[in-house]
Amino acid sequence: MTVDSNGTVGTAQDAEREAVVEAALGALGLDDKARLLAGQDMWSLPALPAVGLGSLVMSDGPVGVRGRRWSADDPSVALPSPTALAASWDPELARQAGRLLAQEAHRKGVHVLLAPTVNLQRSPLGGRHFEAYSEDPLLTGTIGTGYVRGVQDGGVGVTVKHFAGNEAETDRFTVDNRIPEGALRELYLAPFEAIVADARPWGVMAAYNRVNGVPMTEHAELNNAVLRGEWGFDGVVVSDWLAARDTTAAIRGGLDVAMPGPRTVYGPPLAAAVRAGEVPEELVDAAVRRVLRLAARAGLLAGAPAVVPAADRPAPIDGDALAREIAARGCVLLRNEPAGGAAVLPLEGDGLRGGVALLGAAAREPRILGGGSAQVFPGHVVSLLDALGAALPAGTPLTYAVGADPAEELPPAAGGFVLEAVARAYDGREIGAEALPGGQVQWFGEMPEGVDYDALHSVEIRGTFTPRVSGPHRFGTRGTGGFLLAVDGHVLFEGPQFDPHGDPFEAFFGTPTQRGTVVLTAGEPVGVSLLHLPPKPEELPLPAVGFSLLHAEPEQDAEELLAEAEEAARAAHTAVVVVGTTERVESEGFDRRDLRLPGRQDELVARVAAANPRTVVIVNSGAPVELPWREDVAAVLVCWFPGQEGGAALADVLLGFEEPGGRLPTTWPARLADAPVTRVAPSEGVLAYEEGLYVGYRAWQRAGAPAPAYAFGHGLGYTSWAYEELVALPAEDPALLASVTVRVRNTGARPGREVVQLYAHRSAPEGPATTLAGFAVVTAPPGGAAEAVIPLPRRSARSWDPATRTWELPASPLTLSASTLRVALP
Ligand code: BGC
Repeated sequence: MTVDSNGTVGTAQDAEREAVVEAALGALGLDDKARLLAGQDMWSLPALPAVGLGSLVMSDGPVGVRGRRWSADDPSVALPSPTALAASWDPELARQAGRLLAQEAHRKGVHVLLAPTVNLQRSPLGGRHFEAYSEDPLLTGTIGTGYVRGVQDGGVGVTVKHFAGNEAETDRFTVDNRIPEGALRELYLAPFEAIVADARPWGVMAAYNRVNGVPMTEHAELNNAVLRGEWGFDGVVVSDWLAARDTTAAIRGGLDVAMPGPRTVYGPPLAAAVRAGEVPEELVDAAVRRVLRLAARAGLLAGAPAVVPAADRPAPIDGDALAREIAARGCVLLRNEPAGGAAVLPLEGDGLRGGVALLGAAAREPRILGGGSAQVFPGHVVSLLDALGAALPAGTPLTYAVGADPAEELPPAAGGFVLEAVARAYDGREIGAEALPGGQVQWFGEMPEGVDYDALHSVEIRGTFTPRVSGPHRFGTRGTGGFLLAVDGHVLFEGPQFDPHGDPFEAFFGTPTQRGTVVLTAGEPVGVSLLHLPPKPEELPLPAVGFSLLHAEPEQDAEELLAEAEEAARAAHTAVVVVGTTERVESEGFDRRDLRLPGRQDELVARVAAANPRTVVIVNSGAPVELPWREDVAAVLVCWFPGQEGGAALADVLLGFEEPGGRLPTTWPARLADAPVTRVAPSEGVLAYEEGLYVGYRAWQRAGAPAPAYAFGHGLGYTSWAYEELVALPAEDPALLASVTVRVRNTGARPGREVVQLYAHRSAPEGPATTLAGFAVVTAPPGGAAEAVIPLPRRSARSWDPATRTWELPASPLTLSASTLRVALP
């Protein structure tokens, strides 16, 4: 054992690795050192063969590993959204997810995963709400710790992101989030702190935004004094993509790596700043040391032992099975009322022979993941329509109707299209091609083989479309640049489309525009072509190509669709309606404006519920939505964005093969107006976190607050539990306040899983009176008891005193509660 300069304890292997790192650092000249701190392209750092260093590759993201190419010809396992993982309240499940992602990373040649996202769900309007874990810092930090441990168990690095204060998307590149010090420490920094302490992450990503006036890529206080100094973080701080803006300020502010490159503030500009005397070379050396350490940990520096040699990696994991397990474990059953007998779920018994009406667009085309950099292309997607058809007892009638179309704008071309993207040079020569699974081209980073961005003149999506139904089909475009759209010989649009947004995600994926309709005949293929002239490289924030061919079937009469669903519901024993959001509602790059389900889905549910008292509603969204009909239906089940196996998991849960294991990681308001934080847009560049500590359930518990639709921690299973005993004993470990055990008994007739939640109550609080203090997941057979052992870390009870700038334990006595049981802290 050795003790390093941060005072942290290292193994002999760490010491060996550090020696190789020091030798490599000593052998590098200033230009190479500066070059190593800048991306050589969109996703990687340069190799430096002279010192035995390989090229380090990074890739998004939380639910899958995209790889260097963002295309369907290199599919990735798509796990459920982070909200679903957090809804399991199970860090061991998160660890499994991390291990699977490490396995995927190795398969794709990736060394560092750009995940997890541990910003808090401050407002339900946050566009990336689905990508974060919870409104609570303890739950976020615990799930994040499990996830990071899992990824690093596999010998792959992480970048815990976005450090810090990146809770919304509006003007995210420039917004100055003014966060009071107490809230910053107790809420927004807390998950990062816990993960640094408990999982020792190899990387952190500096956010786009400012915190209290200073851009996070230049925030010496938070990056150097707090993250490295106080917490002992010894990994790399990498910029969010395009977040590094100033050479001197960034290197002084603690930023190690500027991504992407090569056009960025590190590399040659950094070497020049050192030569001009503006930056001390020691700062560059410190950053290079950390990058070399990261590379060494990942096994990319010759002579240095990888943290996890290939032979010691965890046993292979079946991605489909894990995706299915997480989806079921993340499902939150919000309501399950009797409808003519027992509770409507699980669906079982003789009545089922009367048949199931499955309704809603998302039952056939589920939204399995949120939009933006977290998107991956899975090899297959299981819908509930596919899965339920296969899982229902033989002879059970199953009818399907769309009911309501949630898409308020044209979506990318999908079913019935056979497409490829063809890249051409200025002289018209084809320089590359790629098969497309749908109407989206997203070349961010590596282009198809043979395609060089600087030589690229145009990209054409071309192929055929065979309609499923006859009538006027709608076509459109999305992206920035020049377009020529032709379908079956008709030119529907020729001209430029410019998106005014500064955010690359909005520019590439924003503002779908309908360009015209063509009357087509079912079963008769027609030719389709969308020619795109990308803007000049200097007009774009990134050397990337992103545009889409959009399509929608002939518009159906909305009244007829609703009536058809209503009729199907009336004729069946049970109606299952799947409602959800679209990629235009929940995505990186913009915030939500409301919490409404898009289209006429609310009306669909209301009418189906009136037609059939046994109506089960499944909510397919990554974040809270308003459910105005929730008291009128028999059951409500949230499946979040459930990943590629979502349909199979839902069938398991509906039919009772699996219990819905989730509990809400965030409060669901009845109406947006009731939510504690509804302002996510800055005013004159500033967004004040005026609510301070009162975020999520901390705010809902205040006197006079309206009742939420569903509280933090809420979720039903298929059995019932009695809380029998709560004991808090002094702990030997000085990091713990107490060691708590909770005995629960399964009082129902089915085996079950319970999330035991422990809350701390302060009698004379200066902040929120009640906070989550710990939790554990237990299982028990019918009649059986289980004991949840919950260590209570000091961290979970302390508060930050801005006057002394130190942590304080509460002066007044603490009470702990688990369900109805209470105990005073020893
Ligand atoms: C996102 C990051 C992501 C990066 C690379 C950024 O726009 O904010 O979360 O890792 O892009 O794709």
